[in-house]
Amino acid sequence: MHILHVVGARPNFMKVAPVLRALKNRQGVTQTLVHTGQHYDPAMSAVFFEQLGIPNPDINLAVGSGTHAQQTATVMVRIEQVLQERTPDVVAVYGDVNSTMAAAVVSAKLGVRVAHIEAGLRSFDRTMPEEINRLITDQVADLLLTPSQDADANLLREGIDPSKIRFVGNVMIDSLVRLLPEAIRSVPAGTPSRYVLVTLHRPSNVDDCNTLERLVSVLCSMAKDTDVLFPVHPRTRARLNSTRKWPERLSLLDPLPYMEFLGLQQRAIAVVTDSGGIQEETTYLGVPCLTVRENTERPITVTMGTNTLVGTDPTVLTQELENVLQGNPKRGVRPPLWDGCSGERIADQLLTLDTHCVEQRSDN
Ligand code: UD1
Repeated sequence: MHILHVVGARPNFMKVAPVLRALKNRQGVTQTLVHTGQHYDPAMSAVFFEQLGIPNPDINLAVGSGTHAQQTATVMVRIEQVLQERTPDVVAVYGDVNSTMAAAVVSAKLGVRVAHIEAGLRSFDRTMPEEINRLITDQVADLLLTPSQDADANLLREGIDPSKIRFVGNVMIDSLVRLLPEAIRSVPAGTPSRYVLVTLHRPSNVDDCNTLERLVSVLCSMAKDTDVLFPVHPRTRARLNSTRKWPERLSLLDPLPYMEFLGLQQRAIAVVTDSGGIQEETTYLGVPCLTVRENTERPITVTMGTNTLVGTDPTVLTQELENVLQGNPKRGVRPPLWDGCSGERIADQLLTLDTHCVEQRSDN
């Protein structure tokens, strides 16, 4: 069985690593790894491959940045040629980035089976590009591997055939479980003992200068009382006022490698973020997370975990942060099957697809 994995952007890398490892030990499996090149800066890509132990991609489509249409279309044109040449049995796509949706659509049209890892998540907010990517990918996928049971319910509601849906747990947590001990050791000496860790990169928070400015003002007042560490995504960096004078206790950092960021998350008093993956990692780690969004496609992090949606109103963010700093953080538990074994379960399910392929071929 030939499985071709497609990844493109930073949050894909921690999801593909456990699946590649699990399949490596299975008999009769050939794997091809395609990097679309959606993320290309070493700090957004190469360092993650290195730390997560992902082999060098067999193919790099080098699509780079662009508008949504340009980026998606370039992935589509280039992946079509790869699929025609390599003829995989299954294409595995991850998460909800433009590369995920582009590869899924092209594979489906070529009649290649599509497995979607992290299927079924919904924010119900179609202004988010990722929500469009999730909806389309799940419609064309043959195997929908879900991280939590709310995702199964979403897919069933959308009329997806239940026989295609498998609850396998959260594969990104596999990477966390494996690398956490090393991550804890990699926190740089000189890191403050108490700090709030911040990430912001969603277009809805950073693309509009007024919204970004309101959020930045909260960070600046937060930094009067506590240290704030803010690794800045390139999208956000490009929009921050470069002449602004930053408070001494607010450290603007370059994007951090996986291990360093995980180590910092684990020791943070609180994390302020608009990322999807970080809402999940903080829930696993039991660290309070304040999510600067009106909605989340990962509601289990709110219902079971340590996540609180604070919206984009600075007063709510300030109040919730005060609560945490005064020693009243939200507590939570780990959701079912967030146990470090999802990669193996995904490998099992991908191989059932092989039997299915063989059965279908012999039927014809
Ligand atoms: C993408 C994903 C988002 C994910 C995020 C994680 C989509 C629609 N969005 O958003 O779901 O949460 O990745 O980071 O797929 N840039 C660089 N270097 C890079 C990559 C990007 O400088 O290696 C800059 C470019 O100016 C680019 C901008 O960042 O235009 C945005 O990159 P892009 O891949 O379009 O979207 P992200 O905001 O990273």
